[in-house]
Amino acid sequence: MRIVLVGPPGAGKGTQAAFLAQNLSIPHISTGDLFRANISQGTDLGKQAKSYMDAGQLVPDEVTIGMAKDRMEQPDAVNGFLLDGFPRNVSQAEALDVALKADDVKLDAVLDLEVPEDEVVKRIAGRRICRNESAHVFHVVYKQPATEGVCDVCGGELYQRDDDKEETVRKRLEVYHTQTEPIIDYYREQGLVVTISALGKVEEVTARAMVALGR
Ligand code: AP5
Ligand code: ZN
Repeated sequence: MRIVLVGPPGAGKGTQAAFLAQNLSIPHISTGDLFRANISQGTDLGKQAKSYMDAGQLVPDEVTIGMAKDRMEQPDAVNGFLLDGFPRNVSQAEALDVALKADDVKLDAVLDLEVPEDEVVKRIAGRRICRNESAHVFHVVYKQPATEGVCDVCGGELYQRDDDKEETVRKRLEVYHTQTEPIIDYYREQGLVVTISALGKVEEVTARAMVALGR
């Protein structure tokens, strides 16, 4: 299956993607995680991305689209993938369509996670992620690690993302409404959008998502 996950910052895209990718046996491709890995490795791409991310703005398409396409061309993504955080504006969606068409394949669904803004703010404020691997995600109330400040998966140190500060979160939400939400209409015209509520326990949302995807 080829799936795009959309939803505001803090909706739980990364959290759900980990379970859905496992259930569906497809790789989880997160452009946010790819950027964070590049930043921690000190690559040129990471240096280019960091100032935009810290300001809550989108990294320019010239950088993002190439990185996403490179990842989608890896052997593990030949038969499907779950995209998390890409595409994030209409020009990225158009570039993805061109790339898929060149491979003669199509998206199966765009899963839209709906969460009220006050819940998103609570989720982001309490989020802590792992220094080793930004896909290891916890929450000070909703998903506590066994030992405070330590990743359950790999033992890494947990910290608060630089872009999870209140002012940056406000900017990210604005960018979501103005630049990312229009892709939902873009995909609705293609008949691909399934919307689910992302409220409730993590496993309840996963079950809802599997039903929405017809699995
Ligand atoms: P990115 O990393 O993609 O961030 P985002 O879209 O803002 O999404 P988040 O990671 O904040 O949230 P999430 O929905 O994954 O929630 P999570 O599962 O962690 O992007 C960061 C930046 O990178 C962008 O601002 C931009 O600069 C750049 N970038 C990335 N992609 C780009 C692109 N395509 N183009 C240009 N720039 C790009 O959950 C949140 C918290 O809630 C966690 O603590 C979790 O434990 C908790 N939680 C999850 N589910 C539940 C639940 N059901 N109940 C209670 N708590 C829950
Ligand atoms: Zn970890």
